[in-house]
Amino acid sequence: MADGTAGRVALVTGAARGLGKAIAEALAAQGVSLMLVDVLADRLEQTRAELAATGIRCAVFPIDISLRANCLAAVEATLASYGRLDVLVNAAGLMRFNHAVDVGEDEFWKIMQVNTAAPFWLAQAAIPHLLESQGNIVNVLSQSALMGTAYIVPYSMSKAALLQLTKSLAMEYIDQPIRINAVAPGAMMTEISTGTMPPGNADYAKIKRYSGERPPADPAEVAAVVAFIASPAASGVHGAVWTADGGVTAG
Ligand SMILES: NC(=O)c1ccc[n+]([C@@H]2O[C@H](COP(=O)([O-])OP(=O)(O)OC[C@H]3O[C@@H](n4cnc5c(N)ncnc54)[C@H](O)[C@@H]3O)[C@@H](O)[C@H]2O)c1
Repeated sequence: MADGTAGRVALVTGAARGLGKAIAEALAAQGVSLMLVDVLADRLEQTRAELAATGIRCAVFPIDISLRANCLAAVEATLASYGRLDVLVNAAGLMRFNHAVDVGEDEFWKIMQVNTAAPFWLAQAAIPHLLESQGNIVNVLSQSALMGTAYIVPYSMSKAALLQLTKSLAMEYIDQPIRINAVAPGAMMTEISTGTMPPGNADYAKIKRYSGERPPADPAEVAAVVAFIASPAASGVHGAVWTADGGVTAG
C-alpha cells in the first residue's frame, strides 16, 4: 500500500514535551508538516518555535483532549491549516501511582479520558481524512498494556484498551487504504515518570518487575520507531504492536 506523499501532514498529541515532542522532531526531520496538540499551551508554543526555526511548517492547537469536542476540533483545525491529514499520533498520556483501593473516581476517569477515549475520538474524526490520504495512525501504548503493573492499575487498563482500539480498528479497516499501529515503550525519564511517586508503603519488588534491566530509553530512540512506522517505508505494517521497552516484556 502506498501511503503518504511528499508534503505529509501529522497531528501529534502530547507534543509539548517528552516523547510527543521527540516524535514531532523525528517527523519534522522527514519533512512532515505538523499540528501539535497539548494542554500545556506555553510548553507547546516553545516546541512550535523550536521546530519552526528549523524551517518546518508547524502549527499548534492547545486543548484538553479529555473533551470529545476538543478532539474533533483538533482534526478540523489541521484540515483548516493544511487541507489534509496523513498521520495521527496519539502520544498524550497520564499516569498516576496509587494503591488500587485508593484511586478516586476523578483520577480514574481522567486517565481513561486522556489515554483511551481521546485516541478513539481523534481516530473517529481523522479516519475519513486518512482514508483520503492513504495515511496512518500510531497509538503510543506502554509495556503496561502487555503485562500487569502494580500501583498503576487504571493506567495499565487504559493502555490495554488502547491496544485493542489499535487492533480492532485495524480489523475494521483491513480492506481500506489506511494503516493503524501501536508502539509500546518502556521506561523513559520524562515528566510522566518524574511527576508521580509510588505510594507510601509500596512494595518496590513489585515495581522492579517492570522497571527493566537496561537504563531508561531516550525519548528520541522511541520516537524513531514511531516515525518509521508512520512513514511510507513501513507500508506493510498494519495492526502491529511494536515494543520499544528494552526487553521488559520479552520474558
Ligand atoms: N515515560 C515513560 O516511562 C513512558 C513509558 C511508557 C509509555 N509512555 C507513554 O508515552 C506517552 C508520552 O509520555 P511522556 O513520557 O512523554 O510523558 P509527558 O508527561 O512528558 O508527556 C505527556 C504529554 O501529554 C500531555 N497531556 C496530558 N493530559 C492531556 C490532556 N488532557 N490534553 C492534552 N494533552 C495532555 C501532557 O501535557 C504532556 O505534554 C504517554 O502516552 C505515556 O503513557 C511513557
